[in-house]
Amino acid sequence: MNILIIGSGGREHAIAMALSKSPNNNRLFALPGNPGIREYCECIDIDVSNFREIKNFSNNNNIDLVIVGPEVPICDGISDYLKGHKIDVFAPSQEASKLESSKKFTKEIAFENNIPTGKAKWFNNQTEASVYLEKLEPPYVIKADGLAAGKGVAICENIKDANNSLIDIFDGKFGSGQSVLIEEFLYGEELSYFAITDGKEILPLIGAQDHKRLLDKDEGPNTGGMGAYCPPPMLSSELENKIMMQILEPTIYGLKKRGIEYKGILFAGLMVKENEPSLIEYNIRFGDPETQALLMLLKSDFTELLVETMNGNIKNYNLEWEKKRAITVVLANNGYPSQYNTNAEIYGIKEAEKNQNVKVFHAGTSISNGALTATGGRVLNVTSTADTLEEARRHAYSAIEKISYKGKIYRNDIAWRALSKIT
Ligand code: AMP
Ligand code: GLY
Repeated sequence: MNILIIGSGGREHAIAMALSKSPNNNRLFALPGNPGIREYCECIDIDVSNFREIKNFSNNNNIDLVIVGPEVPICDGISDYLKGHKIDVFAPSQEASKLESSKKFTKEIAFENNIPTGKAKWFNNQTEASVYLEKLEPPYVIKADGLAAGKGVAICENIKDANNSLIDIFDGKFGSGQSVLIEEFLYGEELSYFAITDGKEILPLIGAQDHKRLLDKDEGPNTGGMGAYCPPPMLSSELENKIMMQILEPTIYGLKKRGIEYKGILFAGLMVKENEPSLIEYNIRFGDPETQALLMLLKSDFTELLVETMNGNIKNYNLEWEKKRAITVVLANNGYPSQYNTNAEIYGIKEAEKNQNVKVFHAGTSISNGALTATGGRVLNVTSTADTLEEARRHAYSAIEKISYKGKIYRNDIAWRALSKIT
């Protein structure tokens, strides 16, 4: 098959790796891709927001399937646009993607279908939001309704900070016209849960745990994710059943009631307390960096999984996982998630990958004057698998020591929750 991957991060590098393992002899393209993705794909220099050019490229290169990594083109309707031109796309429709592009929409679906989630109210007006805040106790959870590149959520310990967050949102810090959600603070342990659905059946994939905060011990600002591991020991089959029955199934059913079909990946951000899951948010795509760990464990054919989903035939897919553990540690640029220096030369990836258990996915790298450089906030994802999580973690951290660039930062404690439970 000719497959086009849209995106340029570690997640898309992992998707390319998984597609390359297919016995199908896939010809892979990535748009725009990155220097790591080039290992598997021809990279095409077209902007991901230029749907017309993407359509023309797909037609001219007999693309059988487009798979979209990031949320922005999905929420902007790439799936509807390309399908309208008879090109198969693995990504939900723009309407279904409101599960990620509108936190208010997700809350409505949750409330209508008795899905466990925090209480919330939404406001288009700063004064009304501020009056409502007065009635609540800290911590205050303030969210921009729409997409905000993972930055639109503030957890505030005092009312002054909460009001400042309201001002930021209404002043357009995360885009103009954003409304605000004020949400109940949920206590517990976070879990990323992935499932894939063909519109009829939902096939659970394994879950993962991300590390959203920049610094060890879950301190510092929120980021896109500093590392992940899977499967998480906390995810018992009992918990998984609850997630499926109380959260994912009623969501797909609730969408159907509104006439919306969901086809693609459904990624639930959950809070789990005393084995009871509660929905924080939905994403309508694979997680980054969770996917880097997750796809390392997929044993059955990824291409076939996508094709069966597109064909509404997921029931007949025989999903198999390696009986191993996987971990990914994000190497970032000093200053991330705010300002950071770019263009430091990267050394040592080949050395790091000499360990057969290790795979280094590229997230924010470029080639400059023939040298590989660190140009993104998140630069590399050092990923490893092993029979145990401890071993996988050891492999990943010793590989990290072999990689160097000026400004390299990373967390030293990825998987601490799981390991503190095991040992
Ligand atoms: P989101 O962008 O919705 O994933 O939120 C970013 C992060 O904020 C989440 O991963 C949680 O760590 C935290 N968060 C969001 N909503 C809540 C909530 N209602 N209670 C506690 N933490 C939350
Ligand atoms: N790692 C969280 C996300 O992909 O949104």
